[in-house]
Amino acid sequence: MAGPVTVGKSDHWGSRFGFIMAAVGSSVGLGNLWRFPYIAGEMGGSAFILIYLGCILLFGFPVLMAEYALGRHGQRSSIASIRKIVTENKKPIAWVGMGWLGAIASLLLFSFYIVISAWVFDFVPQAFLGGFSGFDAAASGENFGETTSNKLEIFFYMCAFLALNVFIVARGVHGGIEKAAEILMPLFFVMLIGMVIFAVITGDAARTVEFLFTPDFSKITFDTFMAALGQAFFSLSVGSCVMFTYGAYLTRDTNIPKNAGLVASADTLVALVAGFAIFPIVFSAGLNPEQGPGLFFVTMPVAFGGLPSFVGGIFFTLALFAAFTSSISLLETGVSWLEDQKSIGRVKGAIGLGVIMFFMGIGYIWMPEMIDHASFLSGDVMLPLGGVLIGIFAGWVVPKSILENELGKGIHLEIALVLLRFVVPIFISIILILGMIGKFFPDGG
Ligand code: PFF
Repeated sequence: MAGPVTVGKSDHWGSRFGFIMAAVGSSVGLGNLWRFPYIAGEMGGSAFILIYLGCILLFGFPVLMAEYALGRHGQRSSIASIRKIVTENKKPIAWVGMGWLGAIASLLLFSFYIVISAWVFDFVPQAFLGGFSGFDAAASGENFGETTSNKLEIFFYMCAFLALNVFIVARGVHGGIEKAAEILMPLFFVMLIGMVIFAVITGDAARTVEFLFTPDFSKITFDTFMAALGQAFFSLSVGSCVMFTYGAYLTRDTNIPKNAGLVASADTLVALVAGFAIFPIVFSAGLNPEQGPGLFFVTMPVAFGGLPSFVGGIFFTLALFAAFTSSISLLETGVSWLEDQKSIGRVKGAIGLGVIMFFMGIGYIWMPEMIDHASFLSGDVMLPLGGVLIGIFAGWVVPKSILENELGKGIHLEIALVLLRFVVPIFISIILILGMIGKFFPDGG
């Protein structure tokens, strides 16, 4: 009988719709609603967005396909799949380190993601109870400051969010993650469209179009490239082997290139559409698009200030749903590894990792400045680095026959291979190195 280390995943996505909702659910999250608008705002808008789209197409998309392909071939957690591929093909076992890097990155991401989600959670009752009524920019800024410094309250919301994550992941892929995504994601899309219609009608849509789509190339620096690259990987959920994990639950009849294309397009569209839900209000309220991480939490309440309270309540509830379907994918990566590598059951694995994340989360609540560092290290450094490794691994180490088998033969495979072999490793390495130099030696010193 095969032991737990050698069996493939027995749990699978129940339907194509379920997989798409779970995969889009992982990608669409706070990265689209919170991180993308504020980084685009800080980086001058349009020029950043152009580079961001390039990063999605040239780097993010091929890595996403490779993660699904290798995950489905391996049929195990990311670390176990990589171990299987290297032992079967007599390649250096050191490649397993790539899986470790991914697992550490995803848990680091999860550790601060639950705190930002707790801020969103806190905003739900505030909005429903009419707490934003009559808000102007100054009052809203003050409210956000008060919310994040009310540590006990944030602690409470973080515990609730974390407990829900543990509960759903413990229930399994089909019975937990897929079910949650199938319900939450369609609701999210309906609400987002409603928000955009409202923002475009009541806000300054013309300035938003100019801000998002008229590139000002004088704003581009190496920082712009690094931020766009990190955001592309963060938003697509690639580079940390999370999609490797989701790929392991794919059935054989799923067309990976087509579905990867769908996931990447949906994610990119939601980021741009979220810009149209936020920036028209930013401009019409006379707010500054460069205000950083607070952008989402300060501007949206201003928009809701003059509306019936349930509108804001529903919006923050849906942002919370989007955050939730992303965070469960991060936790799943760790639980899946514990499950088939260490033979620890899902329930124990989810609770065990939940306890570790609980203590890390407390650290961020009391030292919020650490969130910036964790976000930079995991999002802007570890994910692109993971992308470089996945590119080299899929392009040079894994036999081509495996990719042919998973992705199908044809021109799309040849293009993907060129991107994975050359474009991803070379260009991402250059961006990472120059971006780090620019960050740590800003004056060229
Ligand atoms: N893609 C998610 C978002 O946009 O919020 C965050 C995320 C999930 C990043 C899973 C990385 C990951 F592996």
